[in-house]
Amino acid sequence: MVLSRSSSAAFWLGLSGLVGDLTLVHAAFSNSASDNLAVYWGQDSYGAAGGSSSGYQQPISYYCQDDSIDVIPMAFMNVFFGEGGEPSLDLANTCSTANDPVFNGTQLPECTFLASDIETCQNAGKIVTMSLGGATGSAGFSNTSQAQEFAQTIWNLLLGGSSSIRPFGNAVLDGIDLDIEGGSSEYFTDFVSALRSLMNSGSKTYYLTAAPQCPFPDAYIGSVINAESFDAIYVQFYNNYCGLTNYDNSNDWNFGTWDNWAKNTSPNPNVKVYIGAPASSTAAGSGYVDAATLGAIAQATRQQYSSFGGVMLWDASQAYANNRYDAAIKGYLTGSSVTTVTPSSTASTTAAPTTSSATTTSASTTSASTTTTASAGDCAGVATWVANVAYTGGDQVVYNGQLWTANWWSYGDTPGGDSGDWAADGTCSTTNGKVQYQSKEAPLTATPKAGTVPNPSLSAAIAAKTAAVARSNSRFFKF
Ligand SMILES: *[C@@H]1O[C@H](CO)[C@@H](O)[C@H](O)[C@H]1NC(C)=O
Ligand SMILES: *[C@@H]1O[C@H](CO)[C@@H](O)[C@H](O)[C@H]1NC(C)=O
Repeated sequence: MVLSRSSSAAFWLGLSGLVGDLTLVHAAFSNSASDNLAVYWGQDSYGAAGGSSSGYQQPISYYCQDDSIDVIPMAFMNVFFGEGGEPSLDLANTCSTANDPVFNGTQLPECTFLASDIETCQNAGKIVTMSLGGATGSAGFSNTSQAQEFAQTIWNLLLGGSSSIRPFGNAVLDGIDLDIEGGSSEYFTDFVSALRSLMNSGSKTYYLTAAPQCPFPDAYIGSVINAESFDAIYVQFYNNYCGLTNYDNSNDWNFGTWDNWAKNTSPNPNVKVYIGAPASSTAAGSGYVDAATLGAIAQATRQQYSSFGGVMLWDASQAYANNRYDAAIKGYLTGSSVTTVTPSSTASTTAAPTTSSATTTSASTTSASTTTTASAGDCAGVATWVANVAYTGGDQVVYNGQLWTANWWSYGDTPGGDSGDWAADGTCSTTNGKVQYQSKEAPLTATPKAGTVPNPSLSAAIAAKTAAVARSNSRFFKF
């Protein structure tokens, strides 16, 4: 009944492979197009903002089943030099140091189960990149040689190089996105320059993008995009006076400034500028407009400015939960309505957003047709599972929309995981409304499991988790 995460991943791969086979033609990604839709994935913004479990972030291929999304930057590689001198990354409920094994001697999680998932998206004509940064102090360089060496590290771990610790295995990502939110951007030009050289030597096309905020110039990344050649920038027109909600005020809305930068300052005069937007009202502190409004703004901006490349959304979980905001925007960009594929629910494990294909009932009925499959457990009042809390036999938790009971003392072992620490009690019909991902971001305070070697990098894990909390409060979420 209850599949482990790895077998549910296998299910997804099987499912997405099937969908891929049935789909006839996918246009390959074109950077020079003006109807691209880039949608960040990785931080489960919907779950972090308190959304219901049915909308929690799904594996990446879930968002590649139709032609709505063209570009998926994965967020974030948030630590550059962690344990063992290697980077770390955090993909929230999908893959993180809190829930997944790490490569020996590092705090780099093994997300190799995502390899074919990523390739499914690539085979569907989309590009998948890694976004570096987020709101941590751990992303930065202290000198030129360190920045250049990190470019080689990125090449080896994620792109065309090779390494024994590639987090996504043999999947070769399509590029790198820079989201530098704080700290120092010193030596980033050295990093980008070295990375660009490696990319140019590669056997396929790689892309470099950045996500500045709309106030011009961007405080952190401004000097870097002035100095190096980028393929596209995803300007965040939200959480700022220059955001979408001030489109009607020409003193505020400043796409024209960015268009001018593209043509006259950027080393690549063909750099594409995207309108970055929140995918729902809970995805940002301010700046959300409905799909029709953003669609109209995008169409008008494209007519006015030839650098316009499309729209960027934060993030995939929010867009799907907001009535497929992504598909609606793609429809405005292409001038057609986009046929969406309703992802089918995975039998019992992952709480897939079963898009309520509302078999319209009588007008007086208001109940949404939810598809609860397993025996319903009443989860009201049961706390969500936390990676860093020690549980004793009989303790109950909620995880992934299910109720679980500890078979014995357990610390840090995911319900449904290989340890067998947890017995599944069925899908929750009611919950206390807590967000699992947020709970997992609680400070790491518990003592390590007796009998296991203390984690030498607990402080690194604490730093990563603290950073994750800071990130959810950052400009990508709340200003
Ligand atoms: C992990 O690294 C340590 C130290 O380098 C080494 O002693 C150990 O054998 C390694 N374990 C595995 C499973 O590779
Ligand atoms: C660059 O910085 C790294 C990390 O702080 C340090 O180990 C290295 O010695 C520095 N190299 C130079 C040339 O200063």
